[in-house]
Amino acid sequence: MSKKLVAKPGEVEFAKGMEGVIARESTKSYVDGENGKLYYHGIPIEELAEHSTYEETFFLLLYDRLPTEPELAFFKERMVQYRDLPDDVYEFIARAARRFNSHPMAVLRTAVSMLALFDESAEEDSLPAHEREAIKITSKLATIVAAIGRARKGLEPVRPRSDLSHAANFLYMLFGEAPDPYYARVMDVILILHADHGCNASTFATIVVKSTLTDMHSSVVAGIGSLKGPLHGGANERVMKMLQEIGEPERAEAWVLRALERKQKIMGFGHRVYKTYDPRARILHDYAVEVTKRAGTEKYLKIAEAIEKVMVERLGQKGIFPNVDLYSGVVMASMGIDTALFTPIFAVARVAGWTAHALEQRIDNRLFRPRFVYVGPELEHWVPLEERKEPEQEPTPLKPLKKEL
Ligand code: CMC
Repeated sequence: MSKKLVAKPGEVEFAKGMEGVIARESTKSYVDGENGKLYYHGIPIEELAEHSTYEETFFLLLYDRLPTEPELAFFKERMVQYRDLPDDVYEFIARAARRFNSHPMAVLRTAVSMLALFDESAEEDSLPAHEREAIKITSKLATIVAAIGRARKGLEPVRPRSDLSHAANFLYMLFGEAPDPYYARVMDVILILHADHGCNASTFATIVVKSTLTDMHSSVVAGIGSLKGPLHGGANERVMKMLQEIGEPERAEAWVLRALERKQKIMGFGHRVYKTYDPRARILHDYAVEVTKRAGTEKYLKIAEAIEKVMVERLGQKGIFPNVDLYSGVVMASMGIDTALFTPIFAVARVAGWTAHALEQRIDNRLFRPRFVYVGPELEHWVPLEERKEPEQEPTPLKPLKKEL
């Protein structure tokens, strides 16, 4: 790689978006983009989706092995123990939903930050303390998101139960009644599929923050902020809006072609690493077939399939295929979950990966400190105010605000 760090724009080659740059060594997950495969610590995602649970998957990501039976039972007990939230956090969630039309990811971000204020060991700097915080935060995130979902409808939060799995308890806290075992399993699979995904933007954000040796809450807050963006976790919500806008499967082809003509990105397609079908999309498609049949929402599945057909025909040769977000929204909407909660639910799952990677970073840390290639003027001098003139053209797309005279 070139060492030249002062240059003219375009003179030094670099990987925009850090494409292909290796951030660190990791034992957590591997995304095989060429073959459309995903493994958590070597285990294919299809096997985990079929046989595992979110709790077991979280254990695998944290400790790099599957738990024994007593270990899993104890790990689940620990997660259950941490489910409830401080009253102030419940109150904040209710107020945020009532007073402002806040984005649920913004409420989640603030609520996780608030948790640290009520946790006397949040600043404790030892490996066991970081591990405990990882389990606490992962456990509590589901409770926060369920409370946000209810508060948005003006409903009181439902406190967690200790006899249900993480996924079933989440649905219980969201809807106020114990879920049908099939839907509890579907939620478990959604959480497993979203739990980790290599060096994605939010995981990278999490480990960059962790590399300063800061606390676990700060690291997770960074992950949430990054996941909120439409190019990352925010895509699932936009997929659902697109399906609603299209309205009928017969309108899908014309809609997509028009959008492509306008150079619009179609949400739920494309990936930096996968240049073929995202394996999570295949699994979720199969669940979507069953869930939409049960809910009578087959229309949305048909629209998504129609979009997939045109996109693969048009852009498949460019390596653009469905990603995880195309069918996850169809599944969740058919389970009666509000679109606004799709990205927060992604966070409920991904926090396992964030905290596992943050611990991995903490165990073998080096501060992240890359460089920019400086392409600004090499030397300019400060000019007295009275000699300055407005430029004919601004050097950046930003325009300084001017007071109307
Ligand atoms: N629809 C239409 N064209 C696309 C799409 C898409 N969804 N994705 C990529 N392209 C085109 C893009 O226009 C560009 O074309 P050209 O070479 O002619 O300029 C080319 O493919 C390369 O695109 P890129 O944006 O440079 O690729 P990237 O690796 O930077 O972006 C991505 C990856 C996921 C941001 C992008 O595919 C995208 O914006 N997809 C839509 C948003 C989305 O579904 N995000 C969820 C990602 S999976 C879940 C997650 O990890 O959060």
